[in-house]
Amino acid sequence: MVNDQNKTGKEAVHRLVKDQYDKYPYPAAQENLADFINRKSFQAGCPSQFFHLYWPFREKRLDLDILVAGCGTMQAPKFALNLPDARITAIDICDNSIDHTNRLLELHNINNVTTLKLPVEDVADLEKEFDLIISTGVLHHLPDPSEGLDALQSVLRADGSMYLMLYGKYGRDGIYYLQEMLSRTGLTASSVTPADLAVIRQLLDLLPPHHPLAAKRHFFNNFQVCDEELVDLFLHPQDRGYSVPDITQYLDGCDMKLQSMLFRAHYAPRCCGLASSGLMERISRLPDTEQLAIGELFRAAVHMHFFVACKKTRDEKDYLIDLDAPQWKSLVPVRSPALQQEPVDAHDVYKAVIYSPMHQFPNIKCPLREEELALFGLSNNRLAIGEIQAAVAARFPAVSDDSLAREFYKKMYDYDYLSFCDPGHNRGTAALI
Ligand SMILES: C[S@@+](CC[C@H](N)C(=O)[O-])C[C@H]1O[C@@H](n2cnc3c(N)ncnc32)[C@H](O)[C@@H]1O
Repeated sequence: MVNDQNKTGKEAVHRLVKDQYDKYPYPAAQENLADFINRKSFQAGCPSQFFHLYWPFREKRLDLDILVAGCGTMQAPKFALNLPDARITAIDICDNSIDHTNRLLELHNINNVTTLKLPVEDVADLEKEFDLIISTGVLHHLPDPSEGLDALQSVLRADGSMYLMLYGKYGRDGIYYLQEMLSRTGLTASSVTPADLAVIRQLLDLLPPHHPLAAKRHFFNNFQVCDEELVDLFLHPQDRGYSVPDITQYLDGCDMKLQSMLFRAHYAPRCCGLASSGLMERISRLPDTEQLAIGELFRAAVHMHFFVACKKTRDEKDYLIDLDAPQWKSLVPVRSPALQQEPVDAHDVYKAVIYSPMHQFPNIKCPLREEELALFGLSNNRLAIGEIQAAVAARFPAVSDDSLAREFYKKMYDYDYLSFCDPGHNRGTAALI
């Protein structure tokens, strides 16, 4: 009886979610994918740019089996345009999203994507396994997020990865107040009218200045959003936010683990005011995810978590970047796209400030001293740390101190300016055998 009630409750939520996306497909559909066709743009997490995020110790190869779970209107064609050798399966429960995806595939002559109207929870029906599963903005909308992740986990290859986005609990606190308030007035995504949407827009202008959403309005484009996005933000029938500990617990319950957090600088204590606090020494002794959880609480504004997860059984040696490991100098630093550099005052001990326009918080900026800038300059996807260190030490002897070089690379990793790979790693092992 209880199970039957649960099932009916879940089905009702499913229907409401599907109904919302059928009426307001997300993201608002566009046809122009010119930037993807010209390879000027790529989807975040696309293995064409981020292969080593998932498999840092392998040679890059893009003939992957990829599942886009909850693909929305455009995600699968955008991935496909950068990954012509991949075999992509895209699923969604919303007819409009699948129809629009199919239209884009036809329009742009893309033939490596199979689309299916299928709930994430039933993905095992595909009877297929995947190297990479992309699911952004979906699992937090399921009536039972664990059922969805369990299902995805069951079709992930043993050495595969998932690229996931879940909403952030603290960055969206004000959104959740508004959602509850509007729901109490009886407004729903299923019944909302254009006049109601105008009322919601007006309400956003009337927010008191101390409202958490007023302080965070710039994270939501100052509410200059289309109707689809307005409904998705404020009238979603099923929406929950996560903290870093919520994520690790969620993954753990589904036999998964965190492989890496993207945008570490949003969380890393050294990248915010905590760096100069008296707590820093205590914080730095904690495990990595604890440190990230503390950084998240201090900022109290991360509204989306992007991260990579894998099966609990996957060997850490297959993916873990460890700058304390004996072979750390064979790691090749990979520079993040779109980094910007600002000059500083000529008399400053620092020679430049680096920042990433991809960060949610524009005040995340890292000043670099002259020798650090020299290390950074050569950290450009080709040379290994050992080679860079030797080259820079010729000009700046202090750099031959391993602890200085190691600390620099740890800092660059925390700031998301550099990630690391070592594709020769497996080859070397094979040669020894
Ligand atoms: C916010 S949109 C995100 C779309 C896409 N992943 C992106 O990032 O552009 C959420 C999508 O998940 C789909 N969805 C929601 N619940 C689902 C379920 N149980 N199974 C499959 N898709 C679902 C919705 O129809 C919608 O297209």
